[in-house]
Amino acid sequence: MAFLRNTWYVAAWDHEIDVTGLLPRTLCNEPVVLYRDAQGQPHALQDRCPHRFAPLHKGRRHGDVIECGYHGLRFNTGGQCVLNPHATGHIPPGAKVRVFPVVERYSLVWIWMGDPAAADAALIPDFHFMDPAEWEVGKGYLHANAGYQLEVDNIMDLSHIEFLHPTTLGSGGISAADVVTTREGDLIWARREIRNHLLSDFLYEATGITRGTLVDRWIEVRWSAPSNMALFLGSTPAGRPRTEGSSNTQAHLFTPETERTTHYWFGISFPKSMGPRAAEMARKRIQGLRQPFETEDLPMIEAQQLRMGDADFWSLKPVLLASDAAAVQARRALEQLIAKEQS
Ligand code: FES
Ligand SMILES: [Fe+2]
Repeated sequence: MAFLRNTWYVAAWDHEIDVTGLLPRTLCNEPVVLYRDAQGQPHALQDRCPHRFAPLHKGRRHGDVIECGYHGLRFNTGGQCVLNPHATGHIPPGAKVRVFPVVERYSLVWIWMGDPAAADAALIPDFHFMDPAEWEVGKGYLHANAGYQLEVDNIMDLSHIEFLHPTTLGSGGISAADVVTTREGDLIWARREIRNHLLSDFLYEATGITRGTLVDRWIEVRWSAPSNMALFLGSTPAGRPRTEGSSNTQAHLFTPETERTTHYWFGISFPKSMGPRAAEMARKRIQGLRQPFETEDLPMIEAQQLRMGDADFWSLKPVLLASDAAAVQARRALEQLIAKEQS
């Protein structure tokens, strides 16, 4: 299956890219090198020198110019060769590397893998709750040996938390609760609410609600193409308004590295209006989330990918359950976008 190209993918957390280094990363099968110029603006070039195809990240920086580590051609942030140290110094017209548009927004650096002329920053999905100006953001990253659509399925169908995370994120009654799936423009939402419900000790601890209290819990997932998801979660003592409970917002952002490997950025945020507690919550909660994501989800999704091998998902005729509605809609929506782009 081809990747959608004319779309924004996450390339990195903001802090992963700095003004002195060169960060190599494969995105949608393309080798990319990410760096910041002296003004702090991020840039992304194809990580392949046009001379003998050495990775540029193995070179060195001269300010905002990258010198290839093999024979010394130098390239500016526009991908243009600006120095040939050999013989007369003539710069052949083909001495250029591809430039990928990048935008820093919401604590993340976003990259456009398609036609640069079509890159419109207004198309970046709304993750304002990760904006570092107003939110404290806890940041995590995992690399998965599994295709990105399996990761999307995992988040779109959170009924799995009851079975895969029984002592952490899950609690009984999740899978039996109704899920309301809606399409709102380009977005697909899956919303579920579970009433009069006991939490795991992990969740009582995380939410600060007294152990044993019956709660109403809400779990709302928003998908946007190709694979960027926002979660709005919370619990409140049963029958009480949501504002009296504990809530948080999360981002689950997937970028294919290859067909069968995925970059996974996950974040949790709390508004700075909470005061100093927000930073402490973000720090603690991201550590708390990392454990089930890394030790429960990741091994299952990687094992699932191994069982599927290279087979196309639909060719295996997956059994469909009521809880799959949102995930299936997201898959279909993405397939349509890819088909349209390919035509
Ligand atoms: S491979 Fe880059 S200069 Fe030769
Ligand atoms: Fe999970």
